This record gives sequence, C-alpha cells and structure tokens, in this order.
Amino acid sequence: MDEARPSHTALRVAMRRAAHQLHDARPLVFDDPFAVPILPPDARAELQRTPAASRKPFSAALRAFMVCRARFAEDVLAAGVREHGVRQALILGAGLDTFALRNPFANVHVFEVDHPATQSWKRELLAASKLPIPEALTFVPVDFERQSLRHQLLHADFDFSVPTATAWLGVVPYLTQEAFGATARVLGRLPAGSSLVFDYSQPREVLSFTEQLMHDSLSARVAQAGEPFQLFFTPQSLAEELPRYDLAVVEDLDSDALNARYLANRTDGLHLRGKAGRLCHAEVSFARQ
Ligand SMILES: C[S@@+](CC[C@H](N)C(=O)[O-])C[C@H]1O[C@@H](n2cnc3c(N)ncnc32)[C@H](O)[C@@H]1O
Repeated sequence: MDEARPSHTALRVAMRRAAHQLHDARPLVFDDPFAVPILPPDARAELQRTPAASRKPFSAALRAFMVCRARFAEDVLAAGVREHGVRQALILGAGLDTFALRNPFANVHVFEVDHPATQSWKRELLAASKLPIPEALTFVPVDFERQSLRHQLLHADFDFSVPTATAWLGVVPYLTQEAFGATARVLGRLPAGSSLVFDYSQPREVLSFTEQLMHDSLSARVAQAGEPFQLFFTPQSLAEELPRYDLAVVEDLDSDALNARYLANRTDGLHLRGKAGRLCHAEVSFARQ
C-alpha cells in the first residue's frame, strides 16, 4: 500500500456492501444500516445513480462474496460470544467496516486495526457523517508490513488473556508472506475460545480458464489502485501453513458452500461464481493448549 494514501480497495468493498443495502432483494444477507451513511458523498451518489451497474454478473458475484464473508465473520463472532466467552472483537484491516457501530454485545470491546492512512480517513468519514464513535471501540493504527501488531495492541490496552474473535477480511491477498506470518503468530497466542475468520485467494494456476479471466480482471484493477495481490494459498497449503502459528482450520468454505449457506432461494439471483476466493474459519490449535 502507498504509505500516505487511504486504501482504495477499502472504499470499493464498502461500496459493494452499500450496494447490497440499496439494490438487493430482502432479506439481505448482511444487514448494515451504516453501510451507506459511512461512505464519502460522491461514492454514495455514484451508487444511487447507477443501480444497473450492480446487476452486472461480475459485480454481483464480487458483492456476493463480500457480503457473505462479512456475514460469516459476524456469525462466528456471535457464536463465540454465546459459546466461548468471547469478549473482544479484533478487526484487522478494518477499512469502512461498521460492526463497532452496530455491536449488540454489551460486554464485547472492539479493536479496529488498520493501516494508519486508511484509519485516519475512516475517522474523518465518521466525523463528517456525524456517526458517533462508540465507547467500546479502540482504533489501533498498524502497518502489518512494518510494525508489530502485538506491540501496538498492548499499547492500546488489548487484553491477550481474553478470548477474542478476529476478522481479517479482504486483507491477506495484499500482504507479503512475512506480514501474514507475523500477524498469524500473534493470533495463535490468543487463549482457547478465540477464533479467526479470513478470506484468501487461490493461485491462478489452479483455476479454470473462466476463473483465470475473473482473477486477471480483478488483479489488474487492484494493482492499478496500488494494492497488488501478492499472497495466495490452496486449501492444502493453508492447512499446512496455519499450524506453524498454532492455528488450525475449523472450516474452509468455497463458493458452493457459501451459496448453499447464505444465498439459497434468493429472488435476485445474487450468488458467487468461480472457485478463486475462499473463506477460512480457524481457531487456536489444541496442540498448544
Ligand atoms: C480490501 S480492503 C478491506 C477492508 C475491510 N476489511 C472490508 O472488508 O471492508 C483492505 C484493507 O487492508 C488494509 N491493509 C492493506 N495492507 C495493509 C497493511 N500493510 N497494514 C495494515 N492494513 C493494511 C487496508 O488499509 C484496507 O483497510
């Protein structure tokens, strides 16, 4: 990422969540009353002006993935609060995520970690939209490539002894292997009951021809925005990688699984296409307990 500029991809993802609120059929997969208000006014106006754009198949498929992953992360968090004593939500590379504004759990504190430039832009947007910052939210600026997540969290009074649900959405493909490993290592030290949800992309060579075309189109766009994809896993390589950080895969969902879980019987045809993107739910492994 460019040091001084907020993430452009964070804006594009937030616009897709907002498009879901504005243009998709009810019931929504991911109901977020703040998704539209948090946007910069020009982005909001663009969405309202161009409803047809959101119905293009490629755009709808990307939106489907983004709303499913947001919903899945919040489902895992809710289950963690109910069943595993989770009392901290850690949102890594938060972008314009609004969970902290909708947090229904009185005993859950939210830590939003993001690249400093993106985080200060988000804080400006919150102020401009007059959206109040909840007391149970702490902002933690961290560049995963250059700073220690553990150090910055300690500095922000994050409690490493409390079960924590971490969401790391739309970030892993943009990282180096070193930054991924350093961050995963911190998460693997969290106590039992902690969870991690993140999405990842499969390498181009394992994709079908059509999936490669979708991959190339998206790769070109994010590279042009100055945020190139650089890290890929297959389900096999990920299952081998996570135990290095004392993490273990609980679920690794492909588009068929997500379509069945969240998008069956929709009247608007919203569904995922292709096998490139997957969603992983991991937990601290028993080996360390
Ligand atoms: C595609 S956006 C996803 C944002 C958010 N998670 C969502 O789903 O809406 C990528 C996010 O990763 C963050 N990011 C990318 N590289 C980063 C780095 N080296 N350190 C910290 N954050 C980074 C960006 O600032 C941005 O918020």
